[in-house]
Amino acid sequence: MKVSPSLLSADFANLQADIEMINRSESDYLHLDVMDGVFVPNISFGFPVMKAVAQHCKKPLDVHLMIVEPQKWVSQVRDTGAEIMNVHQEACLHLHSCVQQIHAAGMKAGVTLCPATPVATLADIIEDLDLVLLMSVNPGFGGQPFIPHTVKKVGELRELISRTGSKAEIEVDGGVNDKTGAELAAAGADILVAGSYVFNAPNPEAVIRGLKQL
Ligand code: DX5
Ligand code: ZN
Repeated sequence: MKVSPSLLSADFANLQADIEMINRSESDYLHLDVMDGVFVPNISFGFPVMKAVAQHCKKPLDVHLMIVEPQKWVSQVRDTGAEIMNVHQEACLHLHSCVQQIHAAGMKAGVTLCPATPVATLADIIEDLDLVLLMSVNPGFGGQPFIPHTVKKVGELRELISRTGSKAEIEVDGGVNDKTGAELAAAGADILVAGSYVFNAPNPEAVIRGLKQL
C-alpha cells in the first residue's frame, strides 16, 4: 500500500519538525489540502506555505485542491513542484480540458469525487486519468468518521478501471486508520491518505509503517 500523510493535521506552528518526520518515514507522498472557503466550508493554506513545505519535503507532493475553478491555478501548482494535482469533479465545468492542462504542465492528473458523487461520472474520462481520489468524508475537515459506503465505491472504481484498461490509481481520503485502511486495501485501493491518524499518534512513523503493510 502507498501512503500519503495529510499535512492538515500537522503542527502548523512547527511544520519543519513534521516534514522531517515525513522525510524519515516510509511515506510515499505528502498530501496537501488546499481549501478556499467557497468549495468547502473551511480555509487551510495556499501557495506560499506549499512552496515553503516543498523546499524541505523530500517526498513527492500530492496536492488536493478543494477550491472552485481549479483550472485557474495549474501553473501555480506546477511551480510548487507538485507531482500530482487533484481537482474535484464537482468543481470543474470542463473537466477534460482541466485534465489536459494538468498534463501539459507536466503533472499527474487526479480527479476527486465527494461522497455523494457516483463513480459512473468518470466513465468518459477514466482513461485520461493517472489517479482517482475518493473522498470517504465530506471534504473540509480532518478527524471526521469514515463513510462506510466508500468501500463499495472502491470496488466499482476498480471494476471501471479494469474494464477500460485505465492506468489510474485509486486513492482514498478521510477517516483512514488501520481498520478502515484494511477494508479499503481489500477492496482494491492503491493509496491511503491519513491525517489525524498519523499526526495525532505518539509515534507517527510507526503508524505510517503500519499503513504501508496493509
Ligand atoms: C479533508 C481532507 C483530508 C484530511 C483527512 O477534507 O481532504 O485530506 O486531512 O483527515 P483525516 O485523515 O483526519 O480524516
Ligand atoms: Zn485531502
